[in-house]
Amino acid sequence: MIGNKMLDAINEQIHRELYSEYLYLAMAAWFRSEGLDGFGHFFEKQAQEEHSHAMKFYHHLFERGGRVVLKAIEEPPRDFPGVVEVFEQSLEHERYITKSIHDLVDLAGTEKDHASASFLTWYVDEQVEEEAHMDEILGKLRMVKGNPQGLLMMDGKLGARA
Ligand code: FEO
Repeated sequence: MIGNKMLDAINEQIHRELYSEYLYLAMAAWFRSEGLDGFGHFFEKQAQEEHSHAMKFYHHLFERGGRVVLKAIEEPPRDFPGVVEVFEQSLEHERYITKSIHDLVDLAGTEKDHASASFLTWYVDEQVEEEAHMDEILGKLRMVKGNPQGLLMMDGKLGARA
C-alpha cells in the first residue's frame, strides 16, 4: 500500500499532468485560430499524451491501494505572443514538469517506496524525450523566424505527427 506522502504527491502530479493537457490544448486552439492547423494538430497530440501521463499515475494509485483525488484545473492562457514564444513556453513548462518528476523520485527514495521509484523511471525517461522534442522544434523555428515559407513547411511537417 502506498504511503500518504507519496499518495498526496502523486495526486498533485496528476493535477500537473492534467493542467499540461489543458495548456497544450489552449495552444492548439490558438494555432488553429491563427490558421496554422499543423501546429494545432501537433499540440492536440501533445495534449493527448499529457492525458495519458495523468492516467498512468491514476492507475498506479489504484494498483497501490491509494485514492485518486482530483483538483480544480486552472484556466490556461487564451492568447500567445507568437509561434516561437509558444515553444519557449512549452519547453519551460516541460522543464518544470521534469523538476516535479525528479522531486517525486527523491521522495520515493526518502520514503523507501521502491515500487514508486521503479514506476517513476518511465517518467524520467519520458521527460528527456519531451524536452528534447520541444527544444529541437524551437531550434528550427528560430532558424525560420520571419520566413513564411519555412513556417508553412514546418506546419505541414508537424501536421503529420502520428
Ligand atoms: Fe507529462 Fe509533457 O510531461
